[in-house]
Amino acid sequence: MKDKVKLIFEGKTYELPIVTGSEGEKAIDISNLRQKTGLITLDPGYANTGSCTSSITFMDGEKGILRYRGIPVKQLAEHSSFIETVYLLINGVLPAKEELNNMSVLFNDNSLVHEDMQIFYQNFPRASHPMGILSSMVNALRSFYPELETIEEEINITVTRLLSKVRTMAAMSYKISRGHKVVYPRPDLKYSANFLNMMFDTPVRPYPIDEDLVKALDVFWILHADHEQNCSTSAVRLVGSGRVNLYAAISAGIAALWGPLHGGANQAVIEMLTDIQNDGGNYRRAIERAKDKNDSFRLMGFGHRVYKAYDPRAKIMKKMCDKVLAKLKISDPLLDIAKELEEAALKDDYFIEYNLYPNIDFYSGIVLRAMGIPTNMFTVMFAIGRLPGWIAQWKESVDDPKWKLGRPRQIYTGPIKTDYIPIEQR
Ligand code: CMC
Repeated sequence: MKDKVKLIFEGKTYELPIVTGSEGEKAIDISNLRQKTGLITLDPGYANTGSCTSSITFMDGEKGILRYRGIPVKQLAEHSSFIETVYLLINGVLPAKEELNNMSVLFNDNSLVHEDMQIFYQNFPRASHPMGILSSMVNALRSFYPELETIEEEINITVTRLLSKVRTMAAMSYKISRGHKVVYPRPDLKYSANFLNMMFDTPVRPYPIDEDLVKALDVFWILHADHEQNCSTSAVRLVGSGRVNLYAAISAGIAALWGPLHGGANQAVIEMLTDIQNDGGNYRRAIERAKDKNDSFRLMGFGHRVYKAYDPRAKIMKKMCDKVLAKLKISDPLLDIAKELEEAALKDDYFIEYNLYPNIDFYSGIVLRAMGIPTNMFTVMFAIGRLPGWIAQWKESVDDPKWKLGRPRQIYTGPIKTDYIPIEQR
């Protein structure tokens, strides 16, 4: 017999069906709840609400599991490339050699950015945050490439164009912010190597491509590539549900990612570690502040809505810190502070009770710093990595025959009907 949930309301019993996912996760299907009972559900922050069914990413927060299309992220980080992972997320299966080669060609062919876009870049105020610029410029892409996106072939071109151009646009914004000449993408370089070259090559100091750093960047982006229905992905799906074009939906995702509780945490972690360093390395004060309920301070890079165990991505990122720093023969005092802070927090009763572990952002900034990426570009790096996930989720939602406009309800708590009072009588 199929499981059902019984709801008793005003003396009547209603049966609600259970939906079971391929990993055994269960949900109560309430899609007809209001129609049948007049009730809605209330769930601030959607902590108990599934917004869709999805075959892209599986997470088990209690066991610390993360898989893309069934493949553990650890295996992808070890054996795959970012581009192969992009293909996997968007198409659902790993590519054959020829398919991967074709994809690389498409990436090269679409890597240039319309020269007129530089005029926009040049005119942003110097202090603009790169995430604000990226969100605006991705939205602006639609005006430069207004082709229809409804034909399957054109969707693939749009998707490739977006993935390839975002990388060029991110490097371009960095160069322009420094007042340097833009470096164009090179057809002989792969995705991550090309990005590093566009960021750091200068006419006076050619950038030496280091394969270990290229691999580290690939892994960084693989680890960020998707994370099911998080804040920015839900923004992409919700905005996309109004049937806006892909660029506008992605632009909304970038804006959502910017927040310090979400993708902006990687920047916030480095700022927090720097404050601790300036405070003589007193990480214990940060822990005490994070526990103080009268202080809004939180330990950045700690805690997660879904993970109640160690974030599997953070484990890989932590190891990568040691590897990248050893390769570059540098030591970063912020890494030492981070490790001490982590050790002390994991032994602290508050963090144990609340199941607060380091998340991906705790160590990622240290890797990026070592590569020479400026702090205000960290969340842009996250956005480039998350782009294939947003696109795969957007594509899955628009291809869904049950596609519906996203439109949550509310429980109104304002004044009841009140008559208008003319201004002279108030
Ligand atoms: N430091 C101190 N206390 C914390 C922290 C933290 N980092 N995270 C959660 N708590 C406490 C919080 O104060 C609350 O306590 P109480 O119930 O007594 O009021 C309780 O834990 C639950 O917090 P919540 O915000 O309701 O729980 P959540 O599951 O929605 O939190 C989070 C998830 C990521 C917003 C939160 O852990 C946080 O703010 N972390 C710091 C920011 C951060 O690192 N964000 C990156 C997340 S990973 C990247 C991504 O995928 O976006």
